[in-house]
Amino acid sequence: MQPELLSNPKFESLRRIKIGVVRGGFSAERPISLRSGRAVTRALKRVGVSAFPIDPVDRKTFSQKIRKADILFIALHGKGGEDGVLQKALEQKRLLFTGSPSSACAKSFDKEVSKRHFGKLGVPTPEYAILDKKNWRKVAEAFPAPYFAKPLDGGSSQGVFLVEDFQGSAEKLRRSVLRLGRLLIEKKIVGRELTAGLLGNLRLPVVEVKPSRSFYDYKAKYTKGMTIYEVPARIPAKVAKKIQAIAYRVYRGLGLKGFSRVDVMLDRKNRPYVLEVNSIPGLTEFSLLPKAARAVGISFEELCLRVLRDAFEQTGKK
Ligand SMILES: Nc1ncnc2c1ncn2[C@@H]1O[C@H](COP(=O)(O)OP(=O)(O)O)[C@@H](O)[C@H]1O
Ligand SMILES: [Mg+2]
Repeated sequence: MQPELLSNPKFESLRRIKIGVVRGGFSAERPISLRSGRAVTRALKRVGVSAFPIDPVDRKTFSQKIRKADILFIALHGKGGEDGVLQKALEQKRLLFTGSPSSACAKSFDKEVSKRHFGKLGVPTPEYAILDKKNWRKVAEAFPAPYFAKPLDGGSSQGVFLVEDFQGSAEKLRRSVLRLGRLLIEKKIVGRELTAGLLGNLRLPVVEVKPSRSFYDYKAKYTKGMTIYEVPARIPAKVAKKIQAIAYRVYRGLGLKGFSRVDVMLDRKNRPYVLEVNSIPGLTEFSLLPKAARAVGISFEELCLRVLRDAFEQTGKK
């Protein structure tokens, strides 16, 4: 419990206001969003901020409820929450919300669009190709294995799989492309998996994830004990600084605000490659961004207040 947090002058603007925590939603990441939303609501209540949950699925009450809040804390993940669609609607209604503006969400959510932006920003990212219903066999067969296949608009590792050799995975690739229309394939980077969080302008310590499975898949992400987390990552200080700088370049370059998390692979020669950026990272108390914040003395409650304060300061700028 940290009720004293609200008496800190930096959070003065947050006294006596009502927060609508938007969570749940329509995407495949709904269960995770419900967990994030619950953690945020509880944390805000613990510090004496009035907060109530809102679910976009309740179409009838949604538009009334969002008007009852002074600020909306968006704890949605995936389509409809992280892709800028909701943000755009809120911007048009001139409602205040946490995190990034719609344009930045759209740039970071689609993995092909974001990889193009990484290229323009000089941010290293693994080689890739896009499969569609027509070209998939030719392109996937020619692409040097091993590689990862992933949906362009996924999250939580859903739909992500490793292709060790084309023949062995041809059927899986075919089914994925037919279902999704398009699929990203990306060179597998062999090395360590890291993630770098940003909180406002603060570069949080780099975290290493060590899954006990072949990669950081859904099971490894959400089953207790399946992944070891090193906070901060045990990597040379110079490498950590470089990764933080790359993550910040992505954050600034895409126009992200409030918070974000950049997923990175580090190859055996300590060369970093950015996989993706999450404009609304997981917000359960066990999620990666909160872990990184805690390592520099920022409690989960304070993290939520900082994100809200940033939203407040963005008034009129979105
Ligand atoms: N190019 C790659 N090289 C090595 N591992 C990868 C690569 N792409 C994805 N992965 C693995 O798959 C996981 C999910 O991929 P990611 O691009 O972060 O998608 P999501 O949006 O679902 O989190 C990563 O955390 C990592 O473990
Ligand atoms: Mg990821």
